This record gives sequence, C-alpha cells and structure tokens, in this order.
Amino acid sequence: MATVISNRPYHIIVFGASGFTGQFVVEEVARNAKEGPSGSMKWALAGRSRHRLEGVLEQAADSLNKPELRIEVDIIVADVSDADSLAIMCQQGLVVLNCVGPYRFYGEPVVKACIENGAHCIDICGEPQFLEGMQLEYHSKAMVSGVYVIGSCGFDSIPADMGILYTKDHFKGTLTAVESFLTIHTGPEGGCAHDSTWQSAIYGFADSGSLRKLRKKFGHQPLPVVGAPFKKRYGQMSNVNAVLKDNRSIKELSCLSVSRPPQVQYTAYVGVGGVWSLIKLFCGGLIFWFLGKFRLGRKLLITFPEIFSFGMFTKSGPSRKQMEGTSFRLTFFGEGYAEGTEPSQGRPNARICTQIHGAEPGYVATSVTMVQAAITVLNEPQFLPVKGGVYSPGAVFAKTTLIHRLNKHGLVFTLPYIKSSEGP
Ligand SMILES: NC(=O)c1ccc[n+]([C@@H]2O[C@H](COP(=O)([O-])OP(=O)(O)OC[C@H]3O[C@@H](n4cnc5c(N)ncnc54)[C@H](OP(=O)(O)O)[C@@H]3O)[C@@H](O)[C@H]2O)c1
Repeated sequence: MATVISNRPYHIIVFGASGFTGQFVVEEVARNAKEGPSGSMKWALAGRSRHRLEGVLEQAADSLNKPELRIEVDIIVADVSDADSLAIMCQQGLVVLNCVGPYRFYGEPVVKACIENGAHCIDICGEPQFLEGMQLEYHSKAMVSGVYVIGSCGFDSIPADMGILYTKDHFKGTLTAVESFLTIHTGPEGGCAHDSTWQSAIYGFADSGSLRKLRKKFGHQPLPVVGAPFKKRYGQMSNVNAVLKDNRSIKELSCLSVSRPPQVQYTAYVGVGGVWSLIKLFCGGLIFWFLGKFRLGRKLLITFPEIFSFGMFTKSGPSRKQMEGTSFRLTFFGEGYAEGTEPSQGRPNARICTQIHGAEPGYVATSVTMVQAAITVLNEPQFLPVKGGVYSPGAVFAKTTLIHRLNKHGLVFTLPYIKSSEGP
C-alpha cells in the first residue's frame, strides 16, 4: 500500500469535473491556484469522458478569462468502474476532490483507490450511509497509509461543523448546547438544486434499513449530556417556520474521529419561509415518503424531479442568474455555563449567537468549502490529526485556519452577541 509522497505531478485532481458541481469546483480551483503550496498549484481535471472534460476546461478558461488554463491544466481519463484507471489517477495527485455522486453507488472505489495509492480524498457527500460506511471500513487502512479521507466538505457539513467550533471557541466558559437555523434567500429568479442530490436522497430513504444496521455494527453510545438537556422544537422561530433537519451525520461523525469530542448537544433547523411553503413541504414529504418505498414510485420520483419536489430539484440545475440572486445565513444560538460556574449545577447562565453568511450554498459555497478544505490539507499538514484516517470536517480541521480561509472567500463568520445572565 502506497503512502503519501509529496513529489507528485498534481497537487489537486478534480474527479467528476464534468458534473454540475464539478464545473464550479474547477472554476474555484482555477481562481485560487496561487494559494497552493509555495504560491502555485499544479492541478488536473479527471472524469470518464475526455471530450466533456475539455468542454469544462474551455468554459472555465472563457468565463474566468484565463486562456492559460487550456495549456496549464491537464486531463486524466478515469472511470469508477475501472479500478486500474482510478489507481493511475490517484498515483498522480496529492488530493483528489471527488465530485462523482451519488456516493452510495460511485464513492467507495474512489476511497479505496486513494488509500491504496497514497492520495488524500475529499468529497461533498451528504449521504450518512456512505460516510459512516467508509469510516467503519477504511479508517484503520487510511491511518496506516497516512491518507486523510474527509467526507461532506460541501455546504453539508463544513458550515455546520466549523460554525460549532467557532461558537465554542468564542464562548467564555462551557458551551453545552447549540441550535442552528438555516435560511436561504432567493432572488426574483428563484432557485433550485440539481437532481443528483435528489437521487441521493431517494436512494438513501429507500435503503434506510441498511443505515440502521450499519449504526448497530458501529455500536456508538450517545455522548453523555453535559449541562441541562434541551428539547427539540418544531414550531415558529423568529419569523421563519423551522423544521428539524437530520444532522446525525454532523453530530455523530464529528464525534467519531476526535479523541476528545466537544460534548455539545446540537440540533439543526431549516427555515422554510411562510405557511404556504410549510404546506408544500409537508405534502411533498408525504408524496416522497409514499413513492420512495416502491421501485415504481422511485422511478417516478427520479424521472420527474421537478414535479415531485415542487420545483426544488431540476434536471438542469439552477441557472447562473438564479445562483447570483441566492444566499444563505446560518445562525447558531448557543447556551452554557459562564466561566467559574459548574455545568452540573443549575440552568445555563450564558448565551452566544454566531452567524455565517455567504453566497448560493449548493454549488457556489460548496465549491469554496471543498477547495479551501483541499488547500488547508496541502498547506497545513502540521495542524491535522497526527495520522491519516476517515474524518468529518470538524474533526480534521479543528486546529487549522480553515475558518479564516473561508472568511476570506465569502463565507463570513460573525459574532452578533455573547450574554451572561450575571453580566451587565
Ligand atoms: N454536500 C453538498 O453540499 C453537495 C452540494 C452539491 C452536490 N453534492 C453532491 O455531489 C454529487 C455530484 O452532484 P452533481 O449535481 O454534480 O451530479 P452530476 O451533475 O450528475 O455529476 C456527476 C459526475 O459524476 C461523473 N460520473 C458518473 N459516473 C461515473 C463513472 N462511472 N466514472 C467516472 N465519473 C462518473 C459524471 O461524469 P459524466 O459527465 O461523464 O457523466 C459527472 O461528472 C452528488 O452526490 C450530490 O449530492 C453535494
């Protein structure tokens, strides 16, 4: 099994560069090539069709006005179904940015090839079964080869993971609970997501029994609650109707790989706007739940994403204009015990609010978080966990300057307030 060697032809290989998300990742790497080790970056596009990859490179060269990309950036042909092609790809790079999804179908051969051939692997997966399966199967192997396999480095879950770490770092005392509220604002053109994510959700829902079995195999016990336990809410929350979001992956994966996990209770909510949106979401959820159970129903959901998701997912994905008008705000409300107060006694007596805001989350912010994750791995090996392994973003980037890097690239972390009930 190869270990990581620094003198490889490429710092970064964008695999799946011809996909909807891949093309944004390509542009983001091109924009930030100067942030590579010692101020430059050698990088390549990879995928199964040379022709489509050439098209993506051409488009990036045009839209960024960087004609030099056509000669400076190489193309590697590799297919998930061809293990040799994956091995050859991985042997050439230090970090593979894997944009080929749904990961439940295509992800594992890439993780395996990266570990066997000494390349770090970063993905933007939001599928708990894949993320946790990789942790169970490959963590020890990745440790042996010194490879970092870091899942969910897109909008799901870098803002949540790094937001909690930011909140914890700014809280003076013991932070014991955090609730986050996500709101997405769209412009006059509206917004949507590409249907690959819709497909990931359908297959994930249909196979949720396997996820339960996998979690049993893991046998993780919930972390002990520090401080007062807090209740989940489903109702109205500061002008937005909030629905609970399943952030098990964030909560559990953040805990899996750190030796001293932050023992913070965490619940994530998504603002869904007004009552009409809530009704749509409820009806859509019911249809999804019903059709997702049967093969024929799933076929219908996959064939007509636009109809069954009420326009939230489309085969063509959002237009550039829609993305320009879209932004997100993720607000964290934390509570805990001020310095000098014992968490085992009484109610929490201090509060904190932090926020992250940024551009369109699904593709613009996602490509920023993915590329900055890779740049952090390349530039700050001394701040990563000592050995390789399969990690969540919070676990691997806790000691790095990733938050600072994200701040510089449009994901702005702020601290609206810190309050102590004993203070002024
Ligand atoms: N976590 C987040 O915040 C976030 C955000 C965005 C996307 N995502 C996830 O990212 C993944 C990609 O999404 P997308 O919308 O970009 O999907 P997409 O447009 O369908 O792109 C899929 C890519 O995979 C490639 N591919 C498919 N089969 C392959 C194979 N056998 N070998 C090599 N390449 C293969 C495709 O290549 P061809 O062009 O040759 O077909 C294409 O480049 C999805 O799982 C999605 O859920 C996550």
